[in-house]
Amino acid sequence: MANRSPSIRIGDDAPGYDLDCFSIPKNYAQDLEKVFIPHGLIMDRIERLARDVLQDMGGQHIVALCVLKGAYKFFSDLLNAMETLNRNSDQASPITVDFIRVSSYCNDQSTGSVRVLGGADLSSLAGKNVLIVEDIVDTGRTMQALLPLVEQHGPRMVRVASLLVKRTPRSLGYTPDFSGFEIPDRYVVGYAFDYNDYFRDLSHVCTLRETAKDKYALAVQKL
Ligand code: PRP
Repeated sequence: MANRSPSIRIGDDAPGYDLDCFSIPKNYAQDLEKVFIPHGLIMDRIERLARDVLQDMGGQHIVALCVLKGAYKFFSDLLNAMETLNRNSDQASPITVDFIRVSSYCNDQSTGSVRVLGGADLSSLAGKNVLIVEDIVDTGRTMQALLPLVEQHGPRMVRVASLLVKRTPRSLGYTPDFSGFEIPDRYVVGYAFDYNDYFRDLSHVCTLRETAKDKYALAVQKL
């Protein structure tokens, strides 16, 4: 594969950055431990991923399939970067979008069962170059469930871009084609990564305090 860039590996002992070095919404300031991946670094990495994707898949109509909810920010920023490259290229091809809603997590645990809750009419993927855009590959169960669903509709090519890949003993061994960062086995939130739907509205990827897990788990049970 032409010049695919390596994932940025974040070590097991990476300390992260003090929250005070960045702007953090007041409502989340007590819930977070550290800024783990600053938003600017995410954006810089996405710029390169966009180039990798177009080198591999460009020249043909690409259907970008966003795996909701977690991937919506990565999806938007990756496509913006791809569009910028296309605007400055002599041989751009169309990019169309679709969305699929998949869910497997409750609190901070993968439930083990992947549910497709709705979205794309996958028959429209037949004969297309399909780019599945995911926020994180953790156990790999979501991709293990989703890939056969997409493949059975006869796409010309399928690639997966994931912003994060987690190093975890729970991994089934699945590796995406394009990966932004490889992270240790920690629960992260922000940049659309959630804890029971909170923290998506945070621009940096951050680690969560244990107290926050109790706080937001409790809030969900009360609803
Ligand atoms: C998260 C994440 C991935 C999946 C990865 O989704 O967005 O889709 O889990 O985990 P896996 O590799 O162990 O399958 P979640 O179920 O939390 O739904 P969300 O995207 O709506 O947050």
